[in-house]
Amino acid sequence: MSPHSEIPRHIAVVMDGNGRWASKRFLPRIAGHRQGVESLKRLVKAAADRGVAVLTVFAFSSENWNRPVEEVSGLMELLALALSKEVPQLSKDGVRLRFVGAREGLSERVKKGFDDAEAVTAGNDRLLLNVCFSYGGRWDICNAVSRVIASGLPVTEANVSSALVTSHCGDPDLIIRTGGERRLSNFLLWQAAYAELHFSDRLWPDFDEEALDNAMEDFASRERRFGLTSAQVESGKASVL
Ligand code: IPE
Ligand code: IPE
Ligand code: MG
Repeated sequence: MSPHSEIPRHIAVVMDGNGRWASKRFLPRIAGHRQGVESLKRLVKAAADRGVAVLTVFAFSSENWNRPVEEVSGLMELLALALSKEVPQLSKDGVRLRFVGAREGLSERVKKGFDDAEAVTAGNDRLLLNVCFSYGGRWDICNAVSRVIASGLPVTEANVSSALVTSHCGDPDLIIRTGGERRLSNFLLWQAAYAELHFSDRLWPDFDEEALDNAMEDFASRERRFGLTSAQVESGKASVL
């Protein structure tokens, strides 16, 4: 995108804070994850309405496999349920789904759910939703570099970029993390190089349209310089006008 576009073309989100949302209500953590799915549905609609083209969400990290087995299996159940329940409506709304991450360790049911959802929504073009599941930025970079080497091409930035899971949609313009932590936790490490970062104290289930508007206003107020000086960016804008 151009450095001064006000609407981010690609937003990526670390959906954090489900467990704390549930604990505050004396509910099991899985209740927070269930509410997190509702929050994601709301965000998808809101982002599409605002003209965002690509949304990439962090649903389960490489490291989240180390959580207690009950939580991991609860999340897998919830994922399988969401795949069967939510895909038809998402598809009607013009959402194209992509699932990115390591497939090892996923059940056949979930893998088939991913493939079917991708196939059913392949022709949609209102919003591209990338769901990062069993994803880690380091995993992504290692995979990409291995693929470049295997193909016999030189390990250049362009070749690595085009072997990453985001090769079909480019880097995020804005990365939002909810839940109050100020870290990336292994999300899109390479692709975050020039993303604007927005941290929200809202827990993920509480992240609503107003919170998205705040993040987008914050983004619109930034000057993206990509290593240039402010004067260079300004004169670039002038030459475009
Ligand atoms: C994010 O919420 C969802 C996943 C990591 C699967 P958390 O489960 O990390 O919620 P907190 O951070 O413990 O509140
Ligand atoms: C990041 O959240 C991963 C997802 C939101 C899927 P975590 O809750 O796993 O991150 P840390 O452990 O607080 O860094
Ligand atoms: Mg967390």
